[in-house]
Order: sequence, then structure tokens, then C-alpha cells
Amino acid sequence: MFEVPDVLIETDRLLLRDVAEQDTQLVYQLYSLPESSRYEYWSPADAAKTKRIVSKWIREQHQNPRPAFHFIVLLKETKAMVGICGLEIGFNPDEAGKIGNVGYRYLPDEWNKGYATEALCGVVEFSFSHLSLHKIESGCVKENRASARVLEKSGFQFEGCRRQGFLIDDQWHDFMIYGILKKDKGY
Ligand SMILES: CC(C)(COP(=O)(O)OP(=O)(O)OC[C@H]1O[C@@H](n2cnc3c(N)ncnc32)[C@H](O)[C@@H]1OP(=O)(O)O)[C@@H](O)C(=O)NCCC(=O)NCCS
Repeated sequence: MFEVPDVLIETDRLLLRDVAEQDTQLVYQLYSLPESSRYEYWSPADAAKTKRIVSKWIREQHQNPRPAFHFIVLLKETKAMVGICGLEIGFNPDEAGKIGNVGYRYLPDEWNKGYATEALCGVVEFSFSHLSLHKIESGCVKENRASARVLEKSGFQFEGCRRQGFLIDDQWHDFMIYGILKKDKGY
């Protein structure tokens, strides 16, 4: 029996819930699409790798403190998945539990409907109000204007460019770094 995890975040049009084992096929489909991986350095190469990644995401749900959230983003109306938004907390041990890093991928058929921005705004709100994070960071290669727009529209500020700091398929790309502070949102 597929037990659907509780909804953790609700926005006007979207529901964000934890990933479950039964989402593995959908995650594989999303990560296998060349359009959704164009500006990323990794993608699950096969179904077995996807399974391992999803299992890791599920194990993290039971760790305390929790190191990451991988939200399945669903349309409220149809419950169809439109994308995934991930939040990893404290890469650096000194920052553990204080600084998050977000990333996201959406199905190409659902692009330019405002879903990535709407979901990210929900994740930002959740991070500051429920997780008490100090800051959330993100970034994208310079060519990924759609992702930069999502960050800008969600209130992230541009902090600088890591020149030739991101390798995709043997090509170095400039990497644009963005961040939002808890105090930027008035907390
Ligand atoms: C980046 C991505 C998440 C955006 O999702 P989305 O749901 O389409 O985002 P939104 O609809 O909230 O906003 C997209 C914005 O980008 C703009 N945009 C889209 N393509 C663009 C382009 N080629 N150049 C400039 N702006 C562009 C849209 O016009 C919109 O801005 P606007 O509201 O000011 O008009 C989606 O394209 C995606 O999944 N891409 C593949 C994975 C990826 O790149 N993830 C980020 C890795 S850092």
C-alpha cells in the first residue's frame, strides 16, 4: 500500500511533500530528460542509480538533525508531479544546521508557469520559519537564465560569480552565486 507522506508546504497552486519510494520512477523520468539536465553536472544514469539516490533521500528523512529535504512538487488540483526541489543543510560542519543550499528541476512541459518560483518561495518561508536557517544559498551557470530568474523572483540576491567554476561535460562554465538571509525576509 502506497503511504503518501504528509504535505509539508502548501502554496496557492502547489503541495510539497517528502519523496517516497514509490516516486522512484517519476524521479528517474525527470532526471533522464536531457532538457532538465542541460545545466547540471549529474543525472541518474540508470534506474538502479536513481533507486539508490531516492533511498538516500528517504533515509535522510529519519536522521536527526535532518540533513536534507527533497520535496516532490505536486499540483494541488490534480496531484500530478511537476518537479522536485531539494534543500541540503550545512555542507560545512561549522555551518551545520544554519545554511541551506537549494536546487530544483521541473518537467519541461510545466516550465514558465511560475511553479519553480512559487515552490521556492514556499521552501524559503519553511526554511526560515520552521528550520530557523540563517541563510539559503543557490547558484546556476551563467547561461541558465531561467534559473537565475527563479532565484531573483524568490528574493535571492546575486553575490558573485565563480569564474569557470562549474564543469559540465568537459566544459567550464561561470557559476553565479545567490543567497537570501533570514533577515532579508524580516524574521
Ligand atoms: C530553471 C527551471 C527550474 C525554471 O522553472 P519554471 O517553473 O519554468 O520557473 P518559473 O516559471 O517560476 O520562472 C521562469 C522565469 O525564467 C524566465 N525564462 C525562461 N527561459 C528563459 C531564458 N532562456 N532566458 C531568460 N529568461 C528565461 C521566464 O520568463 C520566467 O521569468 P519571468 O516570470 O520574469 O517571465 C526549469 O527551467 C528547469 O527545471 N530547468 C532544468 C533544471 C535546472 O536548470 N535547474 C536549476 C539548476 S541550477
